[in-house]
Amino acid sequence: MSAQIIDGKALARQLRIGFRQRVEQLKARGVAPGLAVILVGDNPASRVYVGNKIKACEECGVRSLHLGLAADVSQAEVLRTIEQLNQDDSIHGILIQLPLPPHIQLARVLEAISVHKDVDGFHLYNVGALVSGNSIFPPCTPYGVQLLLDTTGIDVAGKNAVVVGASNIVGKPMGLMLLQREATVTICHAKTRDLAQHTILADILIVAAGKPGLIVPQMVKEGAIVIDVGINRLPDGRIVGDVCFEAVKEKASWITPVPGGVGPMTVTMLIENTLRSAERAFKTAGEAAFQAWEAPTVKSP
Ligand code: GUN
Repeated sequence: MSAQIIDGKALARQLRIGFRQRVEQLKARGVAPGLAVILVGDNPASRVYVGNKIKACEECGVRSLHLGLAADVSQAEVLRTIEQLNQDDSIHGILIQLPLPPHIQLARVLEAISVHKDVDGFHLYNVGALVSGNSIFPPCTPYGVQLLLDTTGIDVAGKNAVVVGASNIVGKPMGLMLLQREATVTICHAKTRDLAQHTILADILIVAAGKPGLIVPQMVKEGAIVIDVGINRLPDGRIVGDVCFEAVKEKASWITPVPGGVGPMTVTMLIENTLRSAERAFKTAGEAAFQAWEAPTVKSP
């Protein structure tokens, strides 16, 4: 039987309706949520991704600030830009689009972003929080995958979850999130021997390798849930994932399409994290104001 399709586009659309209401509630309290997106250089794929993020902000009523820096900008200038945004109370989320040019140290830049505005969830503090199971800003792609899995109604606890790809952006945080939900997790990567030996055991198979056609039906367990994170442009211009969709859907129970699966959810979770940041900032400001107001009465006899 053919798999049921997990429709990321529809879920993203539904979530964004709720976001608009949250934006209105924040605005009514005097907070206009704002996201700053920094793009260094002019990598064409990055330009498209940044464009999608700005468009999603517009759709949800979130103010966006797009900062384009030249490919040869100094690291010091990038750090100065981030510091200004850290200090800017009208900005609740800061994102620097990756990859960065090789002369810029990624770790240095990611650590410069305030943990309170780290809506990508890439700062070491947020990575550590993910490890301990208390993350504030889960990284957007695995966060989106988690919600897509939720739509199937299947509990991941006790299931064999196999993640193909061990990147810091997707594979590693995805593995941690699944572990947090008590799945038995295997993370495969470029050096994994006999990939099929692992994938065939997967009740939940998440593929983020960036290799079109990597996953064929012989590698998939009958009835598995298959989530395809890959976005690959073929020479003929078509966009495909890492999974041979048409063939694998005959074996899986649930599957995400590409496009229209994980992609729209990644951008949607970025908006979710930005709104959460604005809501946290409002709460913190409220608490600070309350404490400031309360202090004199505590001191009075
Ligand atoms: N490049 C590819 N994916 C991402 C992402 O999720 N965030 C950022 N900042 N850059 C990326």
